[in-house]
Amino acid sequence: MTQFQKFKDRRQLFATQLKGGVAIIPTAPEQLRNRDAHYPYRFDSYFYYLSGFREPEAVLVIVAASDDTAAKHYLFCREKNQEREIWDGFRYGPDAAREVFGFDEAYPITQLDELMPRLLANQPAVYAAFNQNQSWNQRIIGWLNQVREQSRAGVASPAEIHDYRTVLDDMRLIKGSDELRIMQRAADISAQAHQRAMQTTSPGMREYEIEAELLYSFYRHGAQAPAYTSIVAGGANACVLHYVDNNAELRSGDLLLIDAGCELDGYASDITRTFPINGRFTPQQRDVYQLVLAAQLDAIEQVKPGNRWNDPHQAALRVLAQGFADLGLCQGSVDAILETEDYKRFYMHKTGHWLGMDVHDVGEYKQQGDWRIFEPGMVLTVEPGCYIRPADSVPEHFWNIGIRIEDDVLVTQLGHDVLTTLAPKTIPEIEELMQ
Ligand code: GLY
Ligand code: MN
Ligand code: MN
Repeated sequence: MTQFQKFKDRRQLFATQLKGGVAIIPTAPEQLRNRDAHYPYRFDSYFYYLSGFREPEAVLVIVAASDDTAAKHYLFCREKNQEREIWDGFRYGPDAAREVFGFDEAYPITQLDELMPRLLANQPAVYAAFNQNQSWNQRIIGWLNQVREQSRAGVASPAEIHDYRTVLDDMRLIKGSDELRIMQRAADISAQAHQRAMQTTSPGMREYEIEAELLYSFYRHGAQAPAYTSIVAGGANACVLHYVDNNAELRSGDLLLIDAGCELDGYASDITRTFPINGRFTPQQRDVYQLVLAAQLDAIEQVKPGNRWNDPHQAALRVLAQGFADLGLCQGSVDAILETEDYKRFYMHKTGHWLGMDVHDVGEYKQQGDWRIFEPGMVLTVEPGCYIRPADSVPEHFWNIGIRIEDDVLVTQLGHDVLTTLAPKTIPEIEELMQ
């Protein structure tokens, strides 16, 4: 069995879930950054999930089985090209790609427009991602029109259009053992990067110096990229939820919030840790930190088969609301704080999201109007926080404290498994590591 067998298995499973017809799944286009310089290339997640193929300019076409033919998997990709390979590096070309990746047939991408009308002829349905890319929409509609033009010759054109993502989102939501192995490794690499950040941080450094340590650690251990732009936010910057400037000086007495995770072989990790820049929490920082940690631990306890998506969020809210009352940040009973949503002055985001090939991964959060039930193989983040901006209604010693604690959690048969335990998160662990 080759390393690409699992992709073939997924294609076969996917094909059995189509109600007949043809799925057209292109990979992502290359993106210009400026003039002739490109952004680092990243394949499309759906395409990669079913192919394992990382080159740009490729399209996967899956023709589902019909009454008299078996399902067939086609790859369209770039041809071998000695000149281009001297400049840009190796490319498989259709023949080798077919052999190595186990496709039934493979063709040069330049033949796509010629062959697609033939593949779509007499098929009942087409599966595509129609609202994703305007030029692909036009291209597919053009092929369908060509099929329709042959109607007087007795050729039927697809009567139905479906979105392949609805099928694939459900498949991607439940991770297999191969995927979990990669996700655990990605989590380990990211957790080690957070350790390194804690060990390196000291007053007077700049946020980007710590970002550099994170990136060093990711690449050093084989990750291909950060899974999203790292947030390295000292002091008040931690209260800006999507802060990415990462250029301020780190000051003794402030906290540093780092939200950073690597991508490994197409899979994301997503970790947030918050720690004191000088290595010791102040009493106020300690109080708020313990509150967020308690909320996170209660939320993680809710992750188990049978519980629903929103249970961790509700658990976190309850702990936070009680804490906000105890600290004098909110007034009134816990129920009143939850009812009026007064907690949103300090905690304004949700407690997590699905995690997988995309950092905010695919998968419905509700089914038939109810929050989705956890099943083994789902992976999510659990990431409560507290962000206290200066305000007359808030005691000054809490101003500019911004804290989030985020772990990646797998739903298991019996409960859950935290993938990111190598990143310290209790106050004694953090203070000891930073000594
Ligand atoms: N790093 C993005 C998030 O935590 O959702
Ligand atoms: Mn997250
Ligand atoms: Mn995050």
